[in-house]
Amino acid sequence: MDVLQTDDYDALSLAAADIVADTIAAKPDAAVVLATGDTPVGMFRELAARRERGELDLTHIRVFQLDEYLGIGPEDRRSLRGWMRRAFLGPLALPDENLTTLPGDATDPHAACQDYADAVVAAGGYDLAVLGLGPNGHLGYNEPPSDPLSPTRVVDLTPESIESAAYYWGSTDQVPPQALTAGMDLLLAAKRILLLVSGPHKRAILRRSVVEPPSPAVPASYLQGIEGVTIIADHAAWPDGE
Ligand code: PGA
Repeated sequence: MDVLQTDDYDALSLAAADIVADTIAAKPDAAVVLATGDTPVGMFRELAARRERGELDLTHIRVFQLDEYLGIGPEDRRSLRGWMRRAFLGPLALPDENLTTLPGDATDPHAACQDYADAVVAAGGYDLAVLGLGPNGHLGYNEPPSDPLSPTRVVDLTPESIESAAYYWGSTDQVPPQALTAGMDLLLAAKRILLLVSGPHKRAILRRSVVEPPSPAVPASYLQGIEGVTIIADHAAWPDGE
């Protein structure tokens, strides 16, 4: 596990964009799973600017959805698929044919999780996972407790995750109580993992993720034992960043 500490959020976004661009230059049809949330917004903005300047060709990448709320279709305002469209599928002009979804509105969500996991395995696993760090240490919606073998599945959201998602959707009662998430098993097997962490509100959970022995109570702590992981944290998020 490498740690890259940047002065600020802009430097974090540039460093992350460099790693994504290098991955795609080395493998134009890379299989990538990209987080929604606030943290990667600057990275997506930078990647979109590079694409517009003709420096980056994203037409062949294969994108995998990281998570979705159970019972929520793509047109619902809270849909994470919709968030992907606004945050990067649109700005990066990624074709829908290259997208593998986790459909929150599937008639059989458990079968949909299995189909998704089969598709990731058929793709040869993820080449790159760009993840955020949840306030409770979740990766995707692998809520605590989650161990490294936790599969792609339907999960109950913890009160911390519901509270944090309420910031986006208006209030806690607007947040669906369950979600589908790509499993820890698939995420930890990614050839390259970037964990992006920004801001003082992430400092305590980042500290637990990198300092405490790995445990299901902090799913992100399992990144400690994994090859190919880079944590990019800005100064404000880093445990000695006061
Ligand atoms: P954030 O979300 O990037 O909006 O902080 C991270 C997460 O909950 O995984």
